[in-house]
Amino acid sequence: MMGDSTPVLARALEASGRTVTRWHRFLHEGQETGPWPPAGSFDQVWVRLPRSAREVRMLLTAAAARIHPEGRVILYGAKDEGIRSADNHRPPALAPFHTALVKRRCRVLTATLAAAYAGGDDTLEAWATDVTLDWGAGPRAWRYFPGVFSHGRLDPATAMLLRHLDPPGPGARILDYGAGTGIIGRALMERVPGSTVHLLDPDAIALHAARTNVPGAFAVQASSLEHPALAGRGPYDLIVSNPPIHEGKRETLGVVESLVARGAALLAPTGRLVLVIQRRLPAEPLLRSAYSATRVLADEGPFRLWEAGV
Ligand SMILES: C[S@@+](CC[C@H](N)C(=O)[O-])C[C@H]1O[C@@H](n2cnc3c(N)ncnc32)[C@H](O)[C@@H]1O
Repeated sequence: MMGDSTPVLARALEASGRTVTRWHRFLHEGQETGPWPPAGSFDQVWVRLPRSAREVRMLLTAAAARIHPEGRVILYGAKDEGIRSADNHRPPALAPFHTALVKRRCRVLTATLAAAYAGGDDTLEAWATDVTLDWGAGPRAWRYFPGVFSHGRLDPATAMLLRHLDPPGPGARILDYGAGTGIIGRALMERVPGSTVHLLDPDAIALHAARTNVPGAFAVQASSLEHPALAGRGPYDLIVSNPPIHEGKRETLGVVESLVARGAALLAPTGRLVLVIQRRLPAEPLLRSAYSATRVLADEGPFRLWEAGV
């Protein structure tokens, strides 16, 4: 099973006597993670429909490389996630999809290998997109992979943060929380001589890009500041973030709340937490509940840049 964050379906398959290997690019308890699914030859590969068309194509290509010649790829998702047009994103490795089940607003599609399938390039690198980005320091070569945040362009909130953030002094220890492909970490590493930069993200594919984009940084796959991989890594002079405010389609401040609550303990005595967030979202009471010094560094368009110190 690829890309299903819940264990519900895996448990049902196991209860019917099947052995299930679960892989997800994001860190989730109870399943394998990493930038690319584990190798193997399976009777079935179940794929939870991902968000972007290119990611659909990428995962289906990886799935095709993991079924034996009589095996099946099973793609499932909801209509408002695009399952009805999923066949448009089918890679040449697979024969056309058949609809196996339509229930409520969801569909289950199945496909076998295309008759002419002779194996494909089963690597993440085959899906790299290389572009040039400029966040104000001149053009920089930048690598993306399908499904990462703000694919191929500089996010306006990230750009705003980088315009107004006052970098810490030489030798600073910096944590880029929710680093994605590493833009904020890289910009700070270039601006702060002798800095140590840590990049944290739960997405193994984003971190794979970040390792190329920010040579010399330390990448941590984690979804909170409590992850054991961060033990002993602080204190930080700067924790900086353009944090996620969605879980699937739902808007939520859950990650921001946890970052704000746990960040204080990881800051050096003069350290700062800097966050860019939509102005309409109630960041102020959250920050004031955990930090004594809180101020707005900039307001621009829909975004507000916050700074907080303990
Ligand atoms: C708004 S994007 C910012 C990416 C990057 N910093 C930039 O500015 O382009 C938020 C990032 O947070 C990551 N993320 C999602 N859940 C997270 C969590 N629980 N903890 C930390 N990061 C998370 C996402 O994978 C995504 O890369």
